[in-house]
Amino acid sequence: MMFYFKKDHKSLTLFMVITLIMALALAGCSSSSNSSNSGNAATAVDGGEKKADPIIVKFSHVTTIDSPKGLASEKFKELAEKYTDGRVTVEVYPSSQLYGDKEELEAVQAGNVHIIAPSITKLVGMNPQFQYVDLPFLFKDNEAVYKFWESDANKKLMNSLDNYGVRLLAMWPNGFKQFVNGKYPLVTPADFKGLKFRVQAGSVLEAQFKALGAGSATIPFGETYTALQQGTVDATENTFNNIDTQKYAEVQKHLTVSNHGRLDYCIIVNTKFWDGLPGDIREALEKAMAEATDYAVELAEDLDQKSFENLKNAGMEVVELNEVQRAEFVKVMEPVVAEFESVIGKDIIDAARAANQ
Ligand code: LMR
Repeated sequence: MMFYFKKDHKSLTLFMVITLIMALALAGCSSSSNSSNSGNAATAVDGGEKKADPIIVKFSHVTTIDSPKGLASEKFKELAEKYTDGRVTVEVYPSSQLYGDKEELEAVQAGNVHIIAPSITKLVGMNPQFQYVDLPFLFKDNEAVYKFWESDANKKLMNSLDNYGVRLLAMWPNGFKQFVNGKYPLVTPADFKGLKFRVQAGSVLEAQFKALGAGSATIPFGETYTALQQGTVDATENTFNNIDTQKYAEVQKHLTVSNHGRLDYCIIVNTKFWDGLPGDIREALEKAMAEATDYAVELAEDLDQKSFENLKNAGMEVVELNEVQRAEFVKVMEPVVAEFESVIGKDIIDAARAANQ
């Protein structure tokens, strides 16, 4: 059960008992509830038997169905429905169909959607320390990232979301970020001068591109293809899989393999909804989430390499930085780590560095 984080629900017992008493009282007052999401409503079927309406769990995200996040959320749906014997229906809304980057965070807090899987850096508004994920060249490989996720520093960070009415259930990987550009190959830091990059969010990414002499603009994921196509921005950074599944090769010719930063996900639930679920249902969903998380880890590594091949086949011109070239980027971009140490926290940076050992 890697990277799946289970909370102790004992303290909720009183809350559950009160909720149950209120539900029974309400059921007594109204015998014909229309709610499709209470889990208590019952629908008459032939022969007078009653079948409870399923509890609807809405899961919204911004990537395509064939991305690691898209496939892992479908796996969660399949397992959740299986383990609850159909008492839960998971509705997955991919590709920003329901909510875009900013809206999904507001929607999960308001309880309009129950689960989201934002890229970690998008939590910057709740806690700027989540921008650790953007610090240039912080992690050496996937294993280091996974090790960091299990560190105390990361667990403390995850708990910081409790103040926002949401709970972080699991971490899912996507991969390392690369640069894409529509104008010319990016081989040295000097090539970045004057270009404008689309970024996800936050001041670390802004500082990263400033260090390279480039500008940046925060643009929602769902609007980035059009921004690249129309020249609102000249370039962007993302993982092989996001570049591939968003079809950036149609509008950007050059790919620079730099592995300079990470893009991974926090799986977040609305706390009130989650804690209000019947205990057996919540346990089944936790089991489904733990298994979907293992699946997400396997998938991400596999899809990362497949997408790299797809990008080459799609005709992108690829620059794979050699050690000397990469060292030049490290020299120019690494000061951003020191600049943001007080924002991110030394404990987090130290834990990330320890994970590289
Ligand atoms: C992005 O905005 O580039 C990513 O956060 C999209 C995603 O969810 O992978």
